[in-house]
Amino acid sequence: TTVIVENADRNKVYRHTPNLSMAPGSTERLMESTLEAAREELVRGLGGLLDREVRVSPGPGSRIPHGAVVVGTRESSRVVRRYVAPDELEPVGDDGYLIRSLSNGTRRFTVIAGNTDVGALYGTFAFLRRLQTHKPLTELDISEAPRVANRHLNYWDTERLYAGNNESGTGGLNGENGAIFNFAATGASAALNLPVVLDRYLVAARAMASVGITGITINNVNANNAYLTPEYIAQEAALADALRPYGIKLALSIRYAAPVDPRFAPDTLTEEQMAPNDPAFQAWWNRKARQLQEAIPDFIGFTVKANSEGQPGPQDFGYDHGDGANGMAVAVAPLGMKIYWRTFVYNPDVDSDRLKRAYLEFGPIDDEAQPDGTKGRFLDNVFLQTKNGPLDFQAREPIHPMFGRMENTNQALELQITQEYTGQNRMLCFLAPMWEEILKTDTYATDARGQLLDKRLVGNVVDGTAQNHSDTAIVGVANLGNADNLTGHHFSQANLYAFGRQAWDWTLDSADIADDWVRMTWGNDRNVVDAVVVAMMMGSWEALVSYQTPLGIGHQFTADVHYGPGPSESHLPREDWNPTYYNQADSVGLGYDRSPTGSNLTAQYFPTLEARYGDIDTVPENLMMWFHHVPWDRPMSSGRIFWDELVDRYYSGVRYVTGMRRTWDSLEADIDARRFSEVRAKLALHEADAADWRDTCVSYWQEFSGREIRAEG
Ligand code: GCU
Repeated sequence: TTVIVENADRNKVYRHTPNLSMAPGSTERLMESTLEAAREELVRGLGGLLDREVRVSPGPGSRIPHGAVVVGTRESSRVVRRYVAPDELEPVGDDGYLIRSLSNGTRRFTVIAGNTDVGALYGTFAFLRRLQTHKPLTELDISEAPRVANRHLNYWDTERLYAGNNESGTGGLNGENGAIFNFAATGASAALNLPVVLDRYLVAARAMASVGITGITINNVNANNAYLTPEYIAQEAALADALRPYGIKLALSIRYAAPVDPRFAPDTLTEEQMAPNDPAFQAWWNRKARQLQEAIPDFIGFTVKANSEGQPGPQDFGYDHGDGANGMAVAVAPLGMKIYWRTFVYNPDVDSDRLKRAYLEFGPIDDEAQPDGTKGRFLDNVFLQTKNGPLDFQAREPIHPMFGRMENTNQALELQITQEYTGQNRMLCFLAPMWEEILKTDTYATDARGQLLDKRLVGNVVDGTAQNHSDTAIVGVANLGNADNLTGHHFSQANLYAFGRQAWDWTLDSADIADDWVRMTWGNDRNVVDAVVVAMMMGSWEALVSYQTPLGIGHQFTADVHYGPGPSESHLPREDWNPTYYNQADSVGLGYDRSPTGSNLTAQYFPTLEARYGDIDTVPENLMMWFHHVPWDRPMSSGRIFWDELVDRYYSGVRYVTGMRRTWDSLEADIDARRFSEVRAKLALHEADAADWRDTCVSYWQEFSGREIRAEG
């Protein structure tokens, strides 16, 4: 095998950080260009997988050697120019690629081509994936393009990481959390702070690029203004330089009221200047954005959590979310930047049902008639970034009613990869089936005349095909930490992997994604693949739902930590933070009535879903308690009454975990000793904690139901 990457050095990346260097003792190397990164991956990947030396050639010379792999663009490569026509490449767009098996006489070779260097890099990873998962490598005629343009991670560096080297407990809300990047204030010793690049940044970059991630917001949504100071910006530039060859761009979370922070003196605003349409407000953000762009030419823009959970926002100054988002959007539009404005808001004054609040605030702004005759006030460079469900990343939620409802606004879907509510770093929970369920849920969205849209799954809304949106985005709250394996639990890597694959193509089958991941992570042995995919990963999410929050019961976690059960808790200062608010347990039954007889959240959905969810006889059982207060004796589809069904779910969920532990034990001979024992230890904790969920919840519900626990097994 010869790897040919033509003219790689013509594609130098701009480097702004003169002293960018790897930390002493590093084994990774900084890349000078994207095509160099592609070549490195091929050499490393082919060498490792084929277990033989791989030759590298800058160009094919007069004849392409038999067995060669040629990578490039029409611009960089003579071979690509010769074998791939412009109109064949055109449809794959900026990030897509072609992989072709070609021949010349008796010599056969493979060409991997993109319109851009990044497209060629993605093609390279796809080719290596085929090799690693034992898929055919001959007669290839692959053409791939992502369905969603902006595939971002949001990195909450100070919260909910669960991926640090500190394995104690479940990973706290704050404090030592193992953030992956070392900035001045994260406490690492100064010698290891950026601009010094650590191996793990490049390992993470390679992992992200291998699944097509295009951007990362590097700090928590509860943002620290330090990230906007010159010292930090210099460090961010270094990070951007290190990640750029992998096609990964940077964004920042900002605090809306940053302009009044005295740390920026003398460049600060008064409270009066904080009106989002005030030229001083817009000029301030424009100046900040320009500083960032000077240091980071391809800087994406800002992620904003405003008027949510104590974060400041336009409402503090008498304006709404539309005004606030647009004020910032106007400021950064001339620089080509975007605003990702989060819709995770739940101001109690808006409605007594927390789940209704976001739509009530954002819907009217999207609907608003504009002076020019169009509808919708949000500007074109604003994305409304909306969590998949109306509460907060629970293990199973109904879709957020805003999907399909925001016809006139760019909408980004926010998923949580880090397992805040899905077992953190202790439980094995493969999330791809959940994301698949979300993305393939039918919104039954209609057009202005009330006709059902042709394409109307959540995935169609997100990829723009439902309502003709040209700019599209999907965002994953990520779980990268300083743990050796990046994610803490070995199986949490599968979630990062799956997120990238599904962000690229949401129509994929999650079992196929699991299959690929298992082959690449644990091996291609049929036994291992079947056991891990089928008996462990694919049922793990449904099992977790069953032993934590079955049949659509909302948030039942003990305060703040969001790991263990707390169904009886009602002490938190905000009513809507308490499990009792969500379970509404009483002698009649369990669950929150959001049907027309209750809060009528159901009316926020399109008519078909409104009717389906609003009626206890037609609501899917797995969402039942999100929408209804379910009587203990209600007959269920299994033939059991609700109480018995509920108890059975808790028990069957734990049984599945026991099954996972046994399956894993049976694979001891097939898995390397270290990873085998690390996963085994996690599964033991997992099983005990799952049983705690079952026992705590079932015995608490029994106080209300007064019925017997008839559990099998
Ligand atoms: C959850 C999480 C918070 C986070 C918030 C958000 O509530 O517990 O830590 O800040 O989501 O998404 O903004």
